[in-house]
Amino acid sequence: MSLRTIADHILDIAQNSVNAGAKLVEIHIEEDPQKGVFKFVVKDDGRGMTEEELKRLFDPFYTTRDHKIRRIGLGLPMLKYACESTGGKVDVHSKKGEGTLVEAVFNTSHIDCQPVGDIAGSIFALLFSSKDVDWVIKRVYNGKTYIVDSKTLKENLSEADWENPKIMNLIREFVEELEKSVKEEKL
Ligand SMILES: Nc1ncnc2c1ncn2[C@@H]1O[C@H](COP(=O)(O)OP(=O)(O)OP(=O)(O)O)[C@@H](O)[C@H]1O
Ligand SMILES: [Mg+2]
Repeated sequence: MSLRTIADHILDIAQNSVNAGAKLVEIHIEEDPQKGVFKFVVKDDGRGMTEEELKRLFDPFYTTRDHKIRRIGLGLPMLKYACESTGGKVDVHSKKGEGTLVEAVFNTSHIDCQPVGDIAGSIFALLFSSKDVDWVIKRVYNGKTYIVDSKTLKENLSEADWENPKIMNLIREFVEELEKSVKEEKL
């Protein structure tokens, strides 16, 4: 993944939670277009980090993952760079055995801010990214909110439905509709 948009960062940070063995990941994505602030929080119940691990977290190339697999430990340093380039910041709270919370803030009116990107696309991708993880994703735009909860969706669909491309497409359209509805201007 190239991490060219904020939506890409959300996917990437959520992937860390999946890699940490999380069963429940709660994501809050809040945007205030008037103030020009975009904030997201990813909270998981994965394995968490020790103080030592936390200290090294933003070192480029620091990873506890097998170096033969995929990427190389740049997810968090790149997020930090992207946020701080706009005058924003990243905070990480973590406790070994309990979980991790990552909070990122961007000033979207800053000239160096990356584009927000396809938030509905990222939410859809997360829902289907890992069978064993429950996602609760809250999206707030200009004070308007929607929540997507994979557990509730799964309870209403059979396992076969969940893997049916037609159903997947319906869910994609559903998320896109929700995204559109919070962005609609009141007449
Ligand atoms: N949610 C999390 N729970 C536990 N450990 C985490 C979490 N997020 C990050 N880490 C730790 O921080 C390290 C660095 O994370 P980072 O996203 O920068 O790189 P990576 O995930 O290892 O590789 P990449 O993101 O480039 O694929 C991880 O290898 C992991 O040890
Ligand atoms: Mg990562």
